Amino acid sequence: MTDERIETLLAGMSPEEKAGQLTQYFYFKLPGEADPALGFDADEQPRAAEAALGRGGAGALLFVTDPAEVNRLQRLAIDGNPQGIPVLFGFDVIHGLRTIFPVPIAMAASWDPETIERGQTIAGREARAVGIHWTFAPMVDITRDPRWGRIIEGAGEDPFLGAAVAAAQVRGFQGGGIIAGPKHFAGYGASLGGRDYDEANISEYELWNTYLPPFQAAVEAGAGNIMTAYMDLNGIPASGSHWLLTKVLRDTWGFTGFVVSDANAVKNLQTHGFAADPADAAARAVTAGVDLEMAFSEPAYDHLPAVPAARDAVEVSVRRILEAKLRLGLLDEPFVDEDRAREVLADPEHRAVAREAARRSAVLLKNDGDLLPLDPGAFGSIAVLGPLADSRRDTLGPWVFDFDLAETVTVLEGIRRATGAEVAYAQGVPVTQREFPSMFDQFGGNRPEDPEGFDADAEFARAVALAESSDVAIVVLGEHQNMIGEAASRSSLDLPGRQLELLRAVAATGTPTVLLLMNGRPLDLRWPAEHVPAIMDIWYPGSQGGNAVADLLFGAASPGGKLPFTWPRTVGQVPIHYGHTRSHEPQNQGRRYWDEASTPLFPFGHGLSYGRFAYENLFVSADTVAPDAEVTVSVDVTNTGARPAPEVVQLYLHQRHGRASRPVRELKGFSRVELAPGETRRVAFTIGPQQRRYWHAAVRDWVLDTTTFDVWVGGSSAAELATTFEVRDV
Ligand code: BGC
Repeated sequence: MTDERIETLLAGMSPEEKAGQLTQYFYFKLPGEADPALGFDADEQPRAAEAALGRGGAGALLFVTDPAEVNRLQRLAIDGNPQGIPVLFGFDVIHGLRTIFPVPIAMAASWDPETIERGQTIAGREARAVGIHWTFAPMVDITRDPRWGRIIEGAGEDPFLGAAVAAAQVRGFQGGGIIAGPKHFAGYGASLGGRDYDEANISEYELWNTYLPPFQAAVEAGAGNIMTAYMDLNGIPASGSHWLLTKVLRDTWGFTGFVVSDANAVKNLQTHGFAADPADAAARAVTAGVDLEMAFSEPAYDHLPAVPAARDAVEVSVRRILEAKLRLGLLDEPFVDEDRAREVLADPEHRAVAREAARRSAVLLKNDGDLLPLDPGAFGSIAVLGPLADSRRDTLGPWVFDFDLAETVTVLEGIRRATGAEVAYAQGVPVTQREFPSMFDQFGGNRPEDPEGFDADAEFARAVALAESSDVAIVVLGEHQNMIGEAASRSSLDLPGRQLELLRAVAATGTPTVLLLMNGRPLDLRWPAEHVPAIMDIWYPGSQGGNAVADLLFGAASPGGKLPFTWPRTVGQVPIHYGHTRSHEPQNQGRRYWDEASTPLFPFGHGLSYGRFAYENLFVSADTVAPDAEVTVSVDVTNTGARPAPEVVQLYLHQRHGRASRPVRELKGFSRVELAPGETRRVAFTIGPQQRRYWHAAVRDWVLDTTTFDVWVGGSSAAELATTFEVRDV
């Protein structure tokens, strides 16, 4: 029945209509009026897209989020082709549509797949309600270089955590009613020097062991789409790589959905110096496995009808696009209910989940003397300081478009609502006085301006004076949200501008100081880590951010997030990740530089809470197992502290010897638990061949060695409680 419907449609389509189905147009009206003198045409994209719809030349659009517009354009699409095939509406629903959740790196820091799934279900539900069918998310690129701005969109450095977070997001989005499109396939996170769009050169060994597992997990979770990557991978543009898009994705993993190019990436095959011209680019992309071309204008796929060699590939790709439309129910119900959209977007339950997600994603990096949570009896007056304390736009983070600033709660507002204490605020310093361009500036509202008549020195002094006269200072520092994200790489990890100077001056007053960081990448915290008693990474916490942060500051909830990346001391250590090999002179691994320690400032998996956790009774179910057998590792975790608190129990493995040198530690299990004071929980992990196998560079396949494994279980990658087990042929 299903196939029949698609075959009938296909049989009636001209080559041009088929090429049209394989084309996705941007539909983005630039802010501002047309100015022919400047060659600026705000409506260029909408006009091109509507013209394509009118001639049956577009199978999908992106960037439309208004349900009335969705319906109007859908009507144009249906009337524009003889079969009446509707278009797919895609969009970057990255961490929420109207209800904004913490940024993806923050959600990963929750180490809580259930919360991540719930969040993306809500994002999917809101998106589907306005007429979006598919999201260009999750980004599952492993990132080991925080200079790369897109670190914020992913789950950090680790393939095991990355795989779990990827699968949870796919389940979430698709459970909410939209297709998930994991991206960017593959290796984008390894762009040279962290410079966005630059080439990635990744060994096959690293690809299989590190960069591909999150994609495979996303495919296994049922992702309906995959997006290609912009850059060259080992000398071949990823968007033209038959090996990636067909051999690995379809032949090896059995992916059955459709592949979309990243924006303009098909035409860029020519820019890369790979394809000869747009027709060649189109032919090579579609035969490599790119079903749908995302194009700014003049798609390369317009040339497909003139390329006979691409005919079979086109046929297959059109079938995949039609299948997606059929499965979404679009062929029967292409329109959207505008009243229902309003209702779904306003759902208070969505805000409650966003608040909980923000609580769960914060990472308490340091808390000397249990300064946090703040004792209301001891702190009658609070100074809230810093340029990010009261910036709604920054509280939301990058990659959001349909947010409602009016409902966004800043840290200052959250604190004011939560406490009866006297709260005074000073910005102190701007984040930066330097101009920095951002490709997202066109969406407006990015940077808080310096207040009218801003006198930098007077404002600085006012902030320090407030700290001096208050019982506690809460300083909110970091990067503006548009200093990170796509095309927002940095060569430095310093706190921009005079922020560190402000922090030093505040700390020098002797007033107990709490540093809250708003960021999506690790920053150079060497000075604060030594001199500021409490540091909490709140990331860009989303619409409910301020409320969630206040919940944590005053103890209504305990932080429990853990770092999804290794936190370097300085940019000079980058790339630095915990899963390196022992290599030569492992005893000197912390002294590889003569001018700085080569250990991180905070290890991967680190994060404190308001509890205290003791780990005991670590047992393995068998001392010796066969290569294909499982062992169970169990441990008792007790909250010996005085407050209920979450803990992420982490299990790391190390293979002592074998056919290759394996990393000193690899995460192979984790579980987030919530324990009352005095409560003990037995946590068990199953370690099977899946967790012990690795891709061998010379065998060029997955292998399992007979060997000895070290096992550590604890609250970070520096866990000390250890045991071993043997793997032997029996
Ligand atoms: C990004 C993608 C994004 C697309 C559409 C590209 O520049 O690399 O991640 O989905 O734009 O907005």
